[in-house]
Amino acid sequence: MALKISVIGTGYLGATHAACMSSLGFEVVGVDVDTSKITSLNAGKIPFYEPGLEELLAQEVQSGRLTFSSDFNAIKDCDVHFICVGTPQVKDGLAADLTYVNGALDSIAKIIKDGSLVVGKSTVPVGTAAALRERLLKINPKLDLAWNPEFLREGFAVEDTLKPNRLVVGVANSKAEETLKQVYAKSLSEQTPWVVADLPTSELVKVAANSFLATKISFINAMAEICEAAGGDVTVLAKAIGYDPRIGNKFLQAGIGFGGGCLPKDIRAFMARAQELGAEQAVEFLREIDSINMRARARVIELVRKDLSDDLRGKKIAVLGAAFKPDSDDVRDSPALDIAVQIQAAGANVIVHDPKAMPNAQKKFPVLKFADSIEKCVEGAELVLHLTEWKIYREINPAALIKLVKNPILIDGRNALDRSEWQKAGWHVRALGRSDTAI
Ligand code: UDX
Repeated sequence: MALKISVIGTGYLGATHAACMSSLGFEVVGVDVDTSKITSLNAGKIPFYEPGLEELLAQEVQSGRLTFSSDFNAIKDCDVHFICVGTPQVKDGLAADLTYVNGALDSIAKIIKDGSLVVGKSTVPVGTAAALRERLLKINPKLDLAWNPEFLREGFAVEDTLKPNRLVVGVANSKAEETLKQVYAKSLSEQTPWVVADLPTSELVKVAANSFLATKISFINAMAEICEAAGGDVTVLAKAIGYDPRIGNKFLQAGIGFGGGCLPKDIRAFMARAQELGAEQAVEFLREIDSINMRARARVIELVRKDLSDDLRGKKIAVLGAAFKPDSDDVRDSPALDIAVQIQAAGANVIVHDPKAMPNAQKKFPVLKFADSIEKCVEGAELVLHLTEWKIYREINPAALIKLVKNPILIDGRNALDRSEWQKAGWHVRALGRSDTAI
């Protein structure tokens, strides 16, 4: 008989997982304590922007296979329960806040039927899964718990869930593995690598992967600093080292660095957990990775200051981009917004544009001003900052835009615009890690 699946927590990860599992033919129930989210999801609407997800969700809700409820009893007869709640950074330290994960387990443990499997997907400090499993089995020894980290990227969430580049399952026994094989039968039939691990290894895979990605980005941003000091060009350097298949050319885009709801908090939580385990030296380098990342934001601000004679007061600065990355409306720990706010605090008259993230940015930083078109944003600007590499910014005609600004100064914080095109049109272009940028 086909498995029935529940998803606990219907935020970014949960809503995506629920819609994707339903699209594979499973009956899926999503539950959340947030009733407004449930109402919106049942109407086929997602409360955030993710390409392709809303269409898929609406189609699955329509099919009748996918339902959402704020009543946890709705998951009673499901066979597999995916925990997809958030693990944000605690307010007073570097560690991850496990309140929601613990709360989710407590809410379902006494409700779910014997023989069912709880599967954690949230990113948690190593050791959490084993502790949760022990707690669950104490409540009902006829249940089991496995871990199955997600690696989905915002902007590619549906694709990454339906066509993952690997599936990792942390299990304590083979029955749990067999159940998960049924859930992921389609991916397995498409030869997706299947990695079976113990619980702690499966938790570590996620933070290790994100630490590696963060390290790659900070590595190239460190090289950008050296290029500036030595008169080199980091974009050429990245291209050249990227041809080595051992290095690869991905995640070597130098600029204002990483942000978002995962990379920054995950490396910090990893450091905090390593310290608890007495192994802090092993990940001490992550502190430097974090510092290089934060420094990239500061370096752009220094460039702005340099270009505006060290006095930002009253100067109109146009900021293109607010999301932490393109194809997302997520502004959590967004380097772009962080820079915008700091420049504004230094007295500049900052106007921000973003194709999708303006409502979220406005909610978070009501002090900032926003423009609903690129043209309005740059009108009369003394400097233009390109901080999130949306496609529409690469499609700008620099010759047309130059007519609207006061000073044709562009700082490309993502090294993503065609510098020679902009220069040809008369712009003075600066970018992190390129020879004419020395601070
Ligand atoms: C990340 C991981 O990639 C994903 O596997 C995990 O499940 C969740 O965290 P995401 O937060 O969606 O995904 O963003 P990602 O695409 O990894 O980008 C993170 C940040 O790094 C963005 O701010 C992006 O702009 C920045 N970045 C990325 C760079 O500055 N340079 C690069 O070369 C690549």
